[in-house]
Amino acid sequence: MQEERAHWTSNVGFVLAATGSAIGLGNLWKFPFITWENNGGAFVLVYLLCIAGVGLPIMMAELLIGRKTQKSVVGALKDAVGPAWGYVGAWGVLCGFILLSYYTVIAGWSLYYFARTVGWMAGGLPAGTSLGDLFGAQSANAPLQLTLSLGFSLATVAIVYLGVQRGIERIARLFLPILFGILLLLLVSSFAMSGSGEAIGFIFRPSFSELTPESVLEALGHSFFTLSLGMGAMVTYGSYIARHQSIVKASAMIVLLDTLIALIATVIMFTVIFTAGMQDQVGETGTVGMLFIALPQLFFQEGVVPFGSLLAPLFYVLVALAALTSTISLLEVVTSYVIDEKGIGRHKATFLCGGAVFVFTIFAALSFGSTPGLSTIELFSGKAGWFNTADHFVSNWMLPTGGFAITLAAGWFMTRDATESELVDGTEPGWFRYNVWRIFIRYVAPAAVGAIIISVAFGRDFS
Ligand code: PFF
Repeated sequence: MQEERAHWTSNVGFVLAATGSAIGLGNLWKFPFITWENNGGAFVLVYLLCIAGVGLPIMMAELLIGRKTQKSVVGALKDAVGPAWGYVGAWGVLCGFILLSYYTVIAGWSLYYFARTVGWMAGGLPAGTSLGDLFGAQSANAPLQLTLSLGFSLATVAIVYLGVQRGIERIARLFLPILFGILLLLLVSSFAMSGSGEAIGFIFRPSFSELTPESVLEALGHSFFTLSLGMGAMVTYGSYIARHQSIVKASAMIVLLDTLIALIATVIMFTVIFTAGMQDQVGETGTVGMLFIALPQLFFQEGVVPFGSLLAPLFYVLVALAALTSTISLLEVVTSYVIDEKGIGRHKATFLCGGAVFVFTIFAALSFGSTPGLSTIELFSGKAGWFNTADHFVSNWMLPTGGFAITLAAGWFMTRDATESELVDGTEPGWFRYNVWRIFIRYVAPAAVGAIIISVAFGRDFS
């Protein structure tokens, strides 16, 4: 039996859910690191331009396709453009599946670091602890990795099982304000640290001589990941928008909040790093290192972060909440496809999809080295592990090609009337805005995304 399609209870509920999808490890884990690698300033400015010029128009396109058709990504593209476009939708579902399989593993680490930092709250970091070694040991500990990622997967499944209103929207309404609160607290305390001026200068003072064509493409590539674009997550969330809600305002709000949170997180992290004078070491530990090696150390280092031992567990709560509101959107893409296209009920579909993804999460969880006595794990360890392969494929190929297809669908294949009726609701002078959007979705966005795809084809790696 087909259940009636659920809708967000309100505009705020929808914006919070979509913002929850957008804000995630991309904001807290990837963005600060690539900003560091690309020397801040000019890179951040280019990133802001990419978000406004490419991210925002594609966000509007995905949401409008979802709302118009009231279907999850495969059915939505078939309905909006034509039967063959179902394959583009299926590409998105596959991407959600793969991305979720490894995203959960990093999300699981936040649980581990939460527990450890709570343990250190009273007595501080035990003497002689090397956080680099600790990270290596935890990520190579197979039973621990499986437990953490299973825990995170179960939480994700439980929320998606409850559905759009009682699950996804309710969790977003509850968690996002907590997330904003924690971030604000961390930001205020970072202003009390001596490195904050230097950090802000690094992030916001552009020095264009440092900017390379690669950094421009990296900024562009990241704008897909951070806004959850290119794989139908926003098409799916858009399909739960009721007719009277404005897509334009909601898109602007989601994009703005996501960007703000990425910048605030970066200010906080860099302040801690500059205060401790750790600039030289940060680059060496890589993307994960900043979040799970440098920061925990600095939170507990004498004289760096005021009330650091208290703020450290809170920081990992922040990471976990941000990740959870993203993993639910990833699972929802896959689950809603099964519900809509295969006619399976939500409860059964959630278990099926969650279970299938978890099989691959096992591979990802076991990608970081071996545990003595568990020889099968060797199979997935090291550089060639599922984790790296999947991240490489998703960031370099799947999101940009999916995003490119969306620009073509909304800009070239759908009629002007079809898109205009979704974006202009008659109550506001939307004509000018619509035409600006149309130029961006037809020319600017495909050209920019095309450049990423070409450069990846020539060997550039954005993962
Ligand atoms: N936007 C998320 C982040 O920045 O971490 C990642 C993501 C979530 C991408 C959900 C795609 C998606 F459907």
